[in-house]
Amino acid sequence: MAAPASDPSWSDYYQKVAQRPVRDLLIQVVERFPSPGVAIDLGCGGGIETSELLRRGWHVVAVDQEAAALNSTFGQAPPEARDRLTTQCAAFGSVLLPAADLIWAGSSLPFCQPEHFPRLWEQISTALCPGGRFAGDLFGVHHAWREIPSMTFVTMEQVQTLLQSFEVELLNEREEERQTAFQGIQHWHGFAIVARKPVLA
Ligand SMILES: C[S@@+](CC[C@H](N)C(=O)[O-])C[C@H]1O[C@@H](n2cnc3c(N)ncnc32)[C@H](O)[C@@H]1O
Repeated sequence: MAAPASDPSWSDYYQKVAQRPVRDLLIQVVERFPSPGVAIDLGCGGGIETSELLRRGWHVVAVDQEAAALNSTFGQAPPEARDRLTTQCAAFGSVLLPAADLIWAGSSLPFCQPEHFPRLWEQISTALCPGGRFAGDLFGVHHAWREIPSMTFVTMEQVQTLLQSFEVELLNEREEERQTAFQGIQHWHGFAIVARKPVLA
């Protein structure tokens, strides 16, 4: 699964997981839409989910702070769909998100520095169109990496506060021993989320 933003590098991570299947949570959220729209892949990594969205007809804005991620994402994209792909090199602390029907953040938000997380969540909430959905993961406070100060960890209560203005369609808390990309088996505590921004009357 994920690797901390130290040694090994994110590029090593993209190569290591390049053959993994598309994340099931992404499939679950896209199947809730009657037709494709505009998606943001926030912390897109090597581009596996961006490619899946493109194959399904979505326009995708792929965002990552690593140029290697954006290069990989563009390279992996189906050539005939590249005109529907925009890449944005930006850090979570300063990113400006365009309007979107879907914001997908697979195993990426935990790598936002805690002091930047409130602004990032505000960006996500504002960028979503009414009826749009957020889907992604957050790490819980029992996660093995919880002592890493540059990462964000949350309690169930904090997740519920983040989602209080959303219609929660899926919220799964999991705590288990899990194989990681570079650090063997680690204690994993996380939340998988699908939440819809209400359509205001
Ligand atoms: C574990 S990878 C996940 C990649 C992909 N979404 C996936 O599911 O495999 C986390 C990604 O978040 C990006 N990232 C980490 N911290 C970031 C930050 N502060 N701003 C923007 N991107 C960041 C990394 O470059 C990396 O590509």
